[in-house]
Amino acid sequence: MSKVNNSVDKKELKARRKQHSKNLALAQKEEIRRTKDLHKNTMKLIKEDLPNQKIFKAEFNKLKKDKLQDSPVRVKKVQDWWNNLTPEEKLEKTNIRQHKAKMESAKKPHFNFEDDIKFENVSLTYSKDTPFEFRALDGTDLTIKKDRITAVIGMTGSGKSTLIQLTNGLLVTETGRTLVGDYPLFASMKKIKEVKDLRREVGLVFQFPEYQLFQDTIAKDIAFGPINLGGDKVLAFKKVPELLRMVDLPEDYAKRSPFDLSGGQKRRVAIAGIIAMDGGTLVLDEPTGGLDPQGEEDFMRLFYNLNKEKNKRIIIVTHNMDHVLQIADDVVVMHKGKVIETGSPFEIFSNQKLLEKIEIEPPKLYKLAYKLKAKGLDITGEKFRTVEEVAAAIKAAKK
Ligand SMILES: Nc1ncnc2c1ncn2[C@@H]1O[C@H](COP(=O)(O)OP(=O)(O)O)[C@@H](O)[C@H]1O
Ligand SMILES: [Mg+2]
Repeated sequence: MSKVNNSVDKKELKARRKQHSKNLALAQKEEIRRTKDLHKNTMKLIKEDLPNQKIFKAEFNKLKKDKLQDSPVRVKKVQDWWNNLTPEEKLEKTNIRQHKAKMESAKKPHFNFEDDIKFENVSLTYSKDTPFEFRALDGTDLTIKKDRITAVIGMTGSGKSTLIQLTNGLLVTETGRTLVGDYPLFASMKKIKEVKDLRREVGLVFQFPEYQLFQDTIAKDIAFGPINLGGDKVLAFKKVPELLRMVDLPEDYAKRSPFDLSGGQKRRVAIAGIIAMDGGTLVLDEPTGGLDPQGEEDFMRLFYNLNKEKNKRIIIVTHNMDHVLQIADDVVVMHKGKVIETGSPFEIFSNQKLLEKIEIEPPKLYKLAYKLKAKGLDITGEKFRTVEEVAAAIKAAKK
């Protein structure tokens, strides 16, 4: 009896195994087909975009030419300045350095990186033509205004980091273009000649920037960026104490090694190094991840002040909706490689359906407002960022 049973079991087991491998093979086939289709589609879109790329290139060449027209005037100005120096002054190291830098700059086209940053039909596919091919940006459009604080939100993997890396040429779109002010970054661009100017203007702080520290003193680490991008060495070191103050570190830390610092302090040094480049735009990818609440608060205040007092455009990717409500003027919502919504924090956070779709919890104050709404007191249509403003809205709603 048991013998028969056993053989039935064996038979069934065998059949099940067979079915399982069949299913596996099918799934694999399906996956291969899916990536192949994706790849085909990507290549098609790139091909369709080629005529646009030709136009972008022609436009860029013309712009550069136009911008070089006043170069002789600029060169003459530098020559006049130099000729007016006394023979002793001409021997001074700082003047010699300045002369060289000014001359180089006068001969180059000057772009205006300060205006709106525009993404036009930008797309990006990682690991193209491999089984890991992934379309992180799917032909999306967006304008990020100058002088404002823009928060970029969305699920993990929605393309936030990829999008912001287009702003300083770290990544280049495969269709369409990114305009930083009047400076275009387009797909068919082989080499970004002006990358130094661009990176000076658009400072990008990665997630965990502390891993990018590598000098033996904090001062050197902070001054590295500006010097590396062609800035004056003496000037760069002169600014270190002020930068340390800005990120709430004692000035006498300048001579210390960055490796003796805590994680949060390293983060401060790394951010000081980006602020040191003194560009018009600061792009921050989850800058407070892993910091304690006080550190997070300090950074939010710093970014807010940089915007309000120094007129810097701030673009910040964050998962912390309390921070978004606290400081953002504009919110950009990303989903599956596309910008699906933009608006004020009030518009975004009063849109419960949208928040559910992107699986993001509203800020604490909005959670409270939603609870009150369920109890019959609706203030979700009001504009509030602080507890005081919530209290005022409640009082007004009760009347
Ligand atoms: N170097 C890479 N190679 C392959 N896939 C990548 C690479 N970088 C990111 N991706 C994938 O692209 C998608 C979007 O990534 P990312 O822009 O980092 O999203 P987010 O910042 O919103 O989390 C993710 O699914 C990620 O796995
Ligand atoms: Mg990211």
